[in-house]
Amino acid sequence: MVQTQKLFVYVFYACFLLSNLPTYSWGRRLFEKEGPNYAVKTIKTEYGDIYDCIDFYKQPAFNHALLKNHTFHPSTRSNSKPKMAGKNTNSLTKNDMFLDMIRFKGESCPSGTVPIRRVNKYDPDSRFPEHNVSGTVFALGQTKNDPSKKYYGANGVLSAWNPQVKPNQYTSAEIILRGGTDSIIAGWTVNPAKYGDTQTRFFIYANANNKLCFDSECGFVVTRPDTPLNFILSPLSNITGPIYTYPVFVYQDAKDGNYYLQVSSRNIELGFWPQNIFAGMKNGASYAGCGGEVYSQDTVKPIDAPVMGAGTYPDIYPDKKNFAFCKFSVVDDSHNVVVPTDIEKFTNNPEYNAVVTNQDHGKVIYYGGPFPVNV
Ligand SMILES: *[C@@H]1O[C@H](CO)[C@@H](O)[C@H](O)[C@H]1NC(C)=O
Ligand SMILES: *[C@@H]1O[C@H](CO)[C@@H](O)[C@H](O)[C@H]1NC(C)=O
Ligand SMILES: *[C@@H]1O[C@H](CO)[C@@H](O)[C@H](O)[C@H]1NC(C)=O
Repeated sequence: MVQTQKLFVYVFYACFLLSNLPTYSWGRRLFEKEGPNYAVKTIKTEYGDIYDCIDFYKQPAFNHALLKNHTFHPSTRSNSKPKMAGKNTNSLTKNDMFLDMIRFKGESCPSGTVPIRRVNKYDPDSRFPEHNVSGTVFALGQTKNDPSKKYYGANGVLSAWNPQVKPNQYTSAEIILRGGTDSIIAGWTVNPAKYGDTQTRFFIYANANNKLCFDSECGFVVTRPDTPLNFILSPLSNITGPIYTYPVFVYQDAKDGNYYLQVSSRNIELGFWPQNIFAGMKNGASYAGCGGEVYSQDTVKPIDAPVMGAGTYPDIYPDKKNFAFCKFSVVDDSHNVVVPTDIEKFTNNPEYNAVVTNQDHGKVIYYGGPFPVNV
């Protein structure tokens, strides 16, 4: 009897040990999701995004091999901004009210630290195949190919929408700078595979010397403690309601050569891409564009063609209110912000279209799709 009791105790103890094994590994996974232990503070947004406040010098950008000996510091700012040629007055853009939306609403990371969005290490880490592979569709206005021209920046006032896409698709509105194989993209996107939801978020993407990166994952140095990258845009435009716009500006500083990123009409500088991570864009870009991009592994209509912009196809609808648009300007080789004269439309799929117009003291590019099924 005593023997049986002893055996029972041993078996019970063994079961206890075994049952704890999965708990230990589960516990470790939970810990990994808790973010780096050097986070100084954690900010959770109303949308459930978690940002860790990380010492400026420990941010992901500085893992980049070419930034090992950098001399940047928390107060590194652009010191030679391009000049706006004339006042940027227009009727399409009234957006100052969004300033508080993109910030942490009064909260901030402590000075000397920057907010880095916590990503679950099991999340997919890359966008779908980079540009110009089958399945990537553009409908935009772009500069004409002219080897004598240089662009030191692109400025797009983007109307913001919430096009719905499937888990294996994304849809974006963006400005693009390109030189050689390098490019910088900035704008808004709905990208469930990347961000795990269908919100309209601000995003940046760069191809620098064949290193392809989203957001702060490599190379982009965050400097603002109170404004997160990937902020969720709100309010958004809809077909019947008002149109809301968000300005995005990327330019190369004439003095230090870094590419600075600025959002909102209040010129909020979020950070910069250091000049030395680039190969083909060390001294300006040779191409600038603005408009829509969608990706799908399948574009069978109407089931799988992703919605671009407002989902309306320019040229069919007489009322321009129904379109997504980009009010576009570029930085010329005198480092002035100017209305580009040589903009052509580009689209690589007939389901999507762009129309370039002269309007509102500038170039306005309307774009969208897919082509409606019953027309
Ligand atoms: C950083 O500095 C070290 C020592 O001076 C040098 O060997 C290395 O090449 C430098 N790295 C970069 C990326 O400049
Ligand atoms: C895509 O690649 C083709 C050739 O492969 C080229 O003609 C075209 O200009 C490229 N389009 C873009 C948007 O880069
Ligand atoms: C469009 O936006 C307006 C104002 O924000 C809202 O009242 C309306 O319900 C929206 N319509 C649709 C179709 O979402």
